[in-house]
Amino acid sequence: MEKEDGSISLSVKVSRFDEGKFREREYGISLNKRATVLDALLNIKDKVDPTLSIRYSCRMGICGSCAMVIDGKPRLACETHINPDADSVRVEPMRGHPLLKDLVTDFDDFFARLRSVKPWIIQKALKSTRVTSRVMQDPENTNQIVPFSSCISCGLCVDACPVVNTHPNFIGPQALAQVHRFSIDSRDGEGTGRIAPVDSKEGIWGCEFVGACSLVCPKGVDPALAIQELKIEAMKQKMLRLISKGKK
Ligand code: SF4
Ligand code: FES
Repeated sequence: MEKEDGSISLSVKVSRFDEGKFREREYGISLNKRATVLDALLNIKDKVDPTLSIRYSCRMGICGSCAMVIDGKPRLACETHINPDADSVRVEPMRGHPLLKDLVTDFDDFFARLRSVKPWIIQKALKSTRVTSRVMQDPENTNQIVPFSSCISCGLCVDACPVVNTHPNFIGPQALAQVHRFSIDSRDGEGTGRIAPVDSKEGIWGCEFVGACSLVCPKGVDPALAIQELKIEAMKQKMLRLISKGKK
């Protein structure tokens, strides 16, 4: 509710979790009308309840650490502005990651899955023994990669994915989007060879193309598209193998 001085009074309903117990706490605060949900939580932590646990760093949508569920939707708290016409906002931790305390979730498994797909360029075998420090990439290839390169590892796509939540062995949209990003990079020595390790039900074929991952991504990455492209490439590779067997 907006006041005459431009500030708003707001009820912030926060899901708290500590020592195995859930409870919802409601905090009444006043804020600048341009405040974000992260501002509201920091205001509570500074002025009302220092025991509230949250994770954040950059406060500008870059580090990905303030991901949580805001009014039922997975979002970044630092990029979500308070609705000045609303009386309240509800804040919960992400559901697709193990909960540690209050709004803080455990990302160990998330990063282990990401590391398992080697999200870095593996240099092509050098043709000569002379080591060059620059590996050039053509602009056309850059344009193909950019839409999948903006990932900030916030985990929101994993949280939104219904398959991750029902099939824990599914590697998940974020790691698969990175497989695609590196498999199409002309500088990468593995290239399409990156697809074989995820050509399985725990990999690309686990995706049911719900598309929730792409809808919630704050950086415009489209993991659902990436996975469908990986499926097409995996099918192409299988066809080529069959053709080459038939020729023998
Ligand atoms: S793909 Fe998008 S939603 Fe998923 S981790 Fe990366 S930035 Fe977050
Ligand atoms: S605090 Fe870094 S993305 Fe929100």
